[in-house]
Amino acid sequence: MNTLQKIGQLLHQKIGLSVKTVGESSIKSAVRTRMAKNNITHRQDYVNFVETSTEELTSLIEECVVPETWFFRDCEPFEYLKTKVLTLSKKYPILKLLSMPCSTGEEPYSIAMTLLEAGLKPESFKITALDISEIALASARQAVYSEYSFRGIQNTSIIDKYFTNVNSEYILNDQVKQQVKFQRSNIVDVTNRHLSQHYHVVFCRNLLIYFDNKQKELTYQNIHKMMVPGGLLIMGHAESTSTPASLFANCAVEKTFSFTCRDKNISGQEQQAKNTKKYAVDEITEKYTTKPFSRYLKYNQTNNKETIPKPTIDPSSAIEDAQTLADQGKFDLAIKICEKYTSNDQVNDEAWYLLGLINDGQGRTDYAEKYFRKTLYLNPQHYEALVHLSLLLKTNGNESAAKQMMQRANRVKKSSSQTNSASQS
Ligand SMILES: C[S@@+](CC[C@H](N)C(=O)[O-])C[C@H]1O[C@@H](n2cnc3c(N)ncnc32)[C@H](O)[C@@H]1O
Repeated sequence: MNTLQKIGQLLHQKIGLSVKTVGESSIKSAVRTRMAKNNITHRQDYVNFVETSTEELTSLIEECVVPETWFFRDCEPFEYLKTKVLTLSKKYPILKLLSMPCSTGEEPYSIAMTLLEAGLKPESFKITALDISEIALASARQAVYSEYSFRGIQNTSIIDKYFTNVNSEYILNDQVKQQVKFQRSNIVDVTNRHLSQHYHVVFCRNLLIYFDNKQKELTYQNIHKMMVPGGLLIMGHAESTSTPASLFANCAVEKTFSFTCRDKNISGQEQQAKNTKKYAVDEITEKYTTKPFSRYLKYNQTNNKETIPKPTIDPSSAIEDAQTLADQGKFDLAIKICEKYTSNDQVNDEAWYLLGLINDGQGRTDYAEKYFRKTLYLNPQHYEALVHLSLLLKTNGNESAAKQMMQRANRVKKSSSQTNSASQS
């Protein structure tokens, strides 16, 4: 094994980095920098040094990591999170979110601003942000940024609202800062403290691209342990294709790289508790696939004139059931339930909205657009439908219509938060 391979092996063991994916030249350059700083001229001497000095290993890691990040990177995951916030916060009164790795803080602070913009109260959510780099974390805690950190931002009003501009620096306000707690942590060696946190939302973007398959697999298992079943996982776009379907169900909403954490490997005791849960997926599936309901669904589909008894199922739970099935990736049955529901009750905006979501997730964007428009026809104030339709129009290249739709969504949100505060005062 040559000296570079030895260093590569060390980095792989300690932080999961694969030389193949990062590129030999970046590792060579990092090693050269560290050798010069330590006045070492032979690579073998450096290997001996870094193998025995924890301090030097930390400095080498700092030199190798890629801290590249910016506010609202990729933007769609944040828009998507905004649409999920109300449902999530109803389910979890204190929402626990994780940004890992967080680098210099732009990602977790973007999450905080998204939640505040969605109308969440500061006391109703907590964000934990982890990274291996102390240098990146120190900068994150300071929260003073240059214009370059805003290169992905479309809505500049958010900068005026949450930052104070002093000369060429942008200082983040305390309201956002105090929503995020930063800690040093190694993703390949996550401590039990984090493993047992049961996060409701996890952002893990732009790190696993530097890992080999084995390391990715271990990391996904750790992320799965850290989340509640049904929790929302957001990956980076290049990583989303390697996210294992056995642990996470793809939400299949374009450009959001989002997944639902599956309930798997649960213990006997938990299984028993789960079995008694009202909305367990198997129970719901059974409810809709046993007679007479399944025959009724079939009847609706084929227009068969045979007389089928009406289902005895309470229709008010149907939308909730369809939502649960869709969250677990059982799209076909979820669609059938919604279609059945909308054929009986034409004016239920939530059923049309869910049909839009599922079709969007399945890539049937023309149907999705039709269903979101139908939702808005029935309920012009449907915030989530406005946001989704805006994302869809943007994806289809219709930028100006997308912008108008988003402006409409913002007006709806503004007026609903004014109504809320008026009713509280
Ligand atoms: C490209 S940044 C991604 C930041 C942010 N998630 C984003 O997408 O904008 C990658 C970060 O991963 C961190 N990192 C690298 N290896 C790590 C490890 N083993 N554990 C935790 N963080 C790590 C680096 O320090 C760096 O800040």
